[in-house]
Amino acid sequence: MTLNNNGFTLNDGSVLPFVGLGTIGIDGDQGTFEILNALNLGYRLIDTSTNYNNEGIVGEAVRRSALPREEILVSAKLPGSHHEYDKAFIFIQESLRRMGLKYFDKYLIHWPNPKDGKYVEAWKALVDAQKQGLIRTIGVSNFEPEHLDDIIEATGVTPATNQVERQPYFNNKRMVEENEKRGILTEAWSPFGRGHLNDVLENATIKEIADKYGKTPAQVIVNWNYQAGVFTIPKSSNPTHQKDNINSTNFELSSEDIERIDSLDQGESGRVEGQDPNEYHEYV
Ligand SMILES: NC(=O)c1ccc[n+]([C@@H]2O[C@H](COP(=O)([O-])OP(=O)(O)OC[C@H]3O[C@@H](n4cnc5c(N)ncnc54)[C@H](OP(=O)(O)O)[C@@H]3O)[C@@H](O)[C@H]2O)c1
Repeated sequence: MTLNNNGFTLNDGSVLPFVGLGTIGIDGDQGTFEILNALNLGYRLIDTSTNYNNEGIVGEAVRRSALPREEILVSAKLPGSHHEYDKAFIFIQESLRRMGLKYFDKYLIHWPNPKDGKYVEAWKALVDAQKQGLIRTIGVSNFEPEHLDDIIEATGVTPATNQVERQPYFNNKRMVEENEKRGILTEAWSPFGRGHLNDVLENATIKEIADKYGKTPAQVIVNWNYQAGVFTIPKSSNPTHQKDNINSTNFELSSEDIERIDSLDQGESGRVEGQDPNEYHEYV
């Protein structure tokens, strides 16, 4: 992964913008307008998943936008119920139909569900779906080092990205480094602790740093990710917040301030919902 002025260049040569739009809770008719608003503000990557029950409106917003299809990156995820090779393949095709799209720009295995032991099969399906043109970039989410090594060894194909939890109370440096070692870009989910699962946006240290730079706490957290070489996907339905979040990478946090944010880490107990990927079982 390398960083240039246009975004993060992935190990497959494709480029992601510095910030994307998360969509948990962006749904229903209103959701279409929230996504269209984000696209008008300059967002170019939309992160969705079957689990978020919004594939329909995400697809609709992409189709209704005045932007050409090739300027918008749609990223979606394979659920745990469909890790078997054949099921995964059909699921990807059905998901595209639900969204009214011909291809996904990025597609991830949502969780490894290691107790089921089928993530290698799922990865083989993504590799083949990419070869058939259904997906441009393939990656994973919530994968631990051993899961990454298993799929790389089985196929010779390294995921382009690994989307993992990362926010100031669980900065997940371990996985950022493990991804980096393998040439995988880290994506940070729930950068603001979903707004109610923790109080990072109200944290005194982050507020103090935000005041110092004349920015919002949200902008400080997005930029803390960007300066660490991490792509992030804050969710917002609110136009002012959407605008703040996408305009977060135009200032430079000092190394001392980055260290202060890093020092807020609480280790495992800082996870927003305690979801350890080796234990958590996602099944939709
Ligand atoms: N791969 C995975 O397993 C996984 C897991 C969880 C999440 N995700 C992805 O990561 C995305 C982001 O995570 P998330 O949805 O859990 O939540 P999040 O981005 O951590 O936080 C969203 C919350 O922060 C508020 N917010 C956003 N911008 C703000 C700002 N500038 N100022 C103040 N408040 C602000 C939002 O309210 P408003 O809407 O009112 O602005 C919302 O309540 C998800 O939507 C999803 O796409 C992936």
